[in-house]
Amino acid sequence: MRQEQRQMHLGVFVLGTGNHVAGWRLPGAADSFQNLSVAQQIARTAERGLFDLLFLGDGLSADPNAHPSFTARFEPITMLAALAATTTHVGLGATASTTYAEPYTVARLFASLDHLSGGRAAWNAVTTSGGQAAANFGRQHPPHGQRYEVAEEFIDVVRGLWDCWEDDAIVADRKTGRYIDAAKVHKLHHKGRFFEVEGPLNIGRCPQGQPVILQAGASEPGQEMAARSADVVFSVVQDLDEARAAYAALKERLPRHGRDPGEVAVLPGVMPVIGRTQEEALEKLDHLQSFVNSTNALSMLSNRLGQDMSAYPMDGPVPDLPLPDTSHGFARTMLAKARREGMTLRDLYNLTAAARGHWVICGTPASIADTLEEWFLGGAADGFNILPPYFPGGFDEFVDGVVPELQRRGLFRRAYRGRKLRDHLGLSRPARQHGTPT
Ligand SMILES: Cc1cc2nc3c(=O)[nH]c(=O)nc-3n(C[C@H](O)[C@H](O)[C@H](O)COP(=O)(O)O)c2cc1C
Repeated sequence: MRQEQRQMHLGVFVLGTGNHVAGWRLPGAADSFQNLSVAQQIARTAERGLFDLLFLGDGLSADPNAHPSFTARFEPITMLAALAATTTHVGLGATASTTYAEPYTVARLFASLDHLSGGRAAWNAVTTSGGQAAANFGRQHPPHGQRYEVAEEFIDVVRGLWDCWEDDAIVADRKTGRYIDAAKVHKLHHKGRFFEVEGPLNIGRCPQGQPVILQAGASEPGQEMAARSADVVFSVVQDLDEARAAYAALKERLPRHGRDPGEVAVLPGVMPVIGRTQEEALEKLDHLQSFVNSTNALSMLSNRLGQDMSAYPMDGPVPDLPLPDTSHGFARTMLAKARREGMTLRDLYNLTAAARGHWVICGTPASIADTLEEWFLGGAADGFNILPPYFPGGFDEFVDGVVPELQRRGLFRRAYRGRKLRDHLGLSRPARQHGTPT
C-alpha cells in the first residue's frame, strides 16, 4: 500500500492589529481587534489557505502599555461564535483560563461552539501566567505549581462533563413524547481537591465527541499536562536544535500516558516576514521595527521575563535571571537565545516587540517554505502556528506565496478532507470514557 506523505498542520494566531506590536501602523494594515469584519476577512483567508485552525488568545486584564490587541479586544469565544456563522471548515480555537474560570462554564462554552460550528471548536487551556487578572476577580494569584495542579483537575472535569451525554441521548420521539432518554445522560459526581461538580452538562454530546484541546505551556508541569490531555501543542522555540529537543521530549512523554506520539501535533509559533527578495523582507522588518514604541516593548519584555526590566541598562548584556513565576516557556527560550547569541537587553527587547518572544523568519515565499520544510522533516514540528506581523496583507502573503510552495512539495493539503477540526488534524472522535454512569 502506498504510504501517504505526512503533511503539515497550520494554525493562524489572530490579533487584529497584527502580531507585530506595531503592525497596525503599516499603511493598509488593519488597526483594530474590536472589528468583526477584520476577523471575518482573516477567517476567509484562513479557509482559502486551507488552514487547520484559527486561534484567538485571551487575557483577563488590560494594560494600556501592552500590545494593542492584548488591551482592546473581544471576548474570544463570543468572537468565534460569530465567525462560526461565516466559515465552514477552519477550526476555531480560543483561550479560557483554568485559574479564573469554572469548569462547568468552560465545558459549556466550548460544547456550544462545537455545536454551532459543526465540530470545529478547540479550547486552549491556559493557567494565566500574569497576576494582574487576580485583582479583577477578587482573588490571590496562585503560584505557578499550584496553577498547574488546579489546571489538571480542571481539564479532567471539563472532559468529564463533555462525556456526560451519550451520542443518542436526545430521542425527540413525537409519538411517545419522550424527548431525552434519561438513561443516556449521566452525572459526573466529581468531588476533587479544587472542584465539586455534579453534572450533567446542559448540552448534548459534541459533534467532535470532545472539542480539541490546545496547550501552550512549556514548563515541566505544562509539558506533563500537554502529554496527558492536549491534542495540539503550541511551542515557543527560536532555534532548530532546541525545537528538536523540545519536540522529542514531549513525544517521549506520551506513551507514559497511554498515548501514541502521533496523537499530538506540535506547532511552533513563527512570524514570517515575507518579501519578493530576502533584502525586501529584511527591509520590511526594519520598517516595522522603526514604529516600535518603547513603552509597549518594555512592558511586553517585562511581562515575558516576569519582572520590571526598566531598571537594567538597555545596551548592557541580558542579566542572568531566574525562571519567573509567570511563564517558564517564554523566559527560558528567550534567555537561552540571548545567551547563545550574546544579545544585549535592547536586542531582546526588539525581538519581543517583533513577535512577543516567538521565532521570526524573514525571506521569500520559497526560502520560508525551505525553512518550514527543514523543521517539519527534521523532527522539530508537525506544522506551525503562523503569526502574521500585520493583517490582512501579512497573512495574504503567506497564503498566496508560502502555502502554494508547500503544496507543490506535497507538504500541505490541496483540499480539506472533512469539515471537523479533528478531520484536519487526523484525530479520531474520542470514545466516551469520562462520565460516570448513574
Ligand atoms: C502560542 C501561544 C499562545 C498562548 N496564548 C495564551 C493566551 O491566550 N492566554 C494566556 O494567558 N496565556 C497564553 N499563553 C501562555 C501559555 O499558555 C502558558 O500559560 C504560559 O506560557 C505559562 O506556562 P509555562 O510556565 O508552562 O511555560 C500562550 C502561549 C503560547 C506559546
